[in-house]
Amino acid sequence: MPALVLLGAQWGDEGKGKATDLLGGSVDYVVRYQGGNNAGHTVVVGDQKYALHLLPSGILSPGCTPVIGNGVVVDPAVLLSELSGLNERGVDTSKLLLSGNAHLITPYNITVDKVTERFLGKRKIGTTGRGIGPTYADKINRVGIRVQDLYDESILTQKVEAALDVKNQLLTKLYNRRAIEAGQVVEELLGYAEQIKGYVADTTLVLNKALDDDKVVLFEGGQGTLLDIDHGTYPFVTSSNPTAGGACTGAGVGPTKINRVIGILKAYTTRVGAGPFPTELFDEDGEALRRIGGERGVTTGRDRRCGWFDAVIARYATRVNGLTDFFLTKLDVLTGWEQIPVCVAYEIDGKRVEELPYSQTDFHHAKPVYETLPGWSEDITKAKSFSDLPKNAQAYVKALEEMSGAPISAIGVGPGRDETIEINSFLS
Ligand code: GDP
Ligand code: IMO
Ligand code: MG
Repeated sequence: MPALVLLGAQWGDEGKGKATDLLGGSVDYVVRYQGGNNAGHTVVVGDQKYALHLLPSGILSPGCTPVIGNGVVVDPAVLLSELSGLNERGVDTSKLLLSGNAHLITPYNITVDKVTERFLGKRKIGTTGRGIGPTYADKINRVGIRVQDLYDESILTQKVEAALDVKNQLLTKLYNRRAIEAGQVVEELLGYAEQIKGYVADTTLVLNKALDDDKVVLFEGGQGTLLDIDHGTYPFVTSSNPTAGGACTGAGVGPTKINRVIGILKAYTTRVGAGPFPTELFDEDGEALRRIGGERGVTTGRDRRCGWFDAVIARYATRVNGLTDFFLTKLDVLTGWEQIPVCVAYEIDGKRVEELPYSQTDFHHAKPVYETLPGWSEDITKAKSFSDLPKNAQAYVKALEEMSGAPISAIGVGPGRDETIEINSFLS
């Protein structure tokens, strides 16, 4: 039975939550493997809308076990409030498993995220301010606090003191802020320990056993390929690996276990925060995409920057993730345009370039080379099969597939679970 990775092929917000939820009913485990509550995944079930940040989208499917893997950074206050919010709405969250090796986002990590951004001024990244980067930095610097540390007060105290020794110097001497008291942080963290304890597990062991027993496991990425710390538009990225390899390190599962890697791809492009974006629109088309597509951040409420589809990026996502399939989302948003431009290559310093340039300078100078495809005006939200789509919508999908380097196996025509055209099953 398959192990699938489902990840963002662009700059996030491609519709991963909806795609994961759609498959949730047919899989045994859904695993978040990186990121934290910087993610905002919207899932629409019937007339109910859920915004998930830290919890895997599989939590809404009763038969599915949701798992937060070791590669995720966990804000315990957010975890508990998200769980209680779902419980109040009648969602059973008791099956959740949380890796004891996952790192905790502490209050001082959140402070450092915010003051660093302020200090950067106009060079800021536009982070979500959730403490993501500083928590991963502590992990790599080996001064991080892990979920398991909540259950040894002496170790927890030593680690918090060690982490704050340096941070308080920075906060007071460089950033002009008050020092943070280690004792207060330890007390706050210990306050979460008992409430979280029932979820803590050796998730690597559980997942590998599940795969040995032929269970279906879905790894759900946060963010997207172009926000990857190694493969994204550095430094305008997040601090983890949303790309496919991140599923292995972030869940403790070997690459030989993964059968399918599905890239979620919006039929146009959006981005939140700072950084280069070659097909970004500053005219009424960009405004219309934002309005019709409801392109406003689920986590920070910021307007998303909008632009036309970029096939160079899609091809790059196929390459760095080894994509086997695409799930094309939000095709319905493009209904009504007479002509739809698609970026097929870049022009950089007068030369046509077909592949994403590795150089940041070149990417900043990349100008989109557009081909224009004919649009359609018919409502497509009720389409159930590919042949239900108007001819021009079919041609748009086929053109994108040809340019992007992997088959488009599903198409989203609306936010709801059932507003999806399935072309090839992901689970065969
Ligand atoms: P994620 O972060 O990748 O899970 O994506 P977000 O939830 O942040 O943003 C995607 C938005 O598009 C959400 O509001 C979804 O409900 C919505 N959505 C997902 N797929 C479709 C689709 O095919 N059509 C339309 N119109 N909306 C969709
Ligand atoms: P989902 O999972 C879109 C962006 C931020 C910022 C950069 C770094 O909903 O697709 P961070 O707080 O991670 O250090 O911010 O990454 N970013 C996202 N953009 N969707 C997301 O998640 C994002 N998570 C982080 O806007 O530019
Ligand atoms: Mg999102």
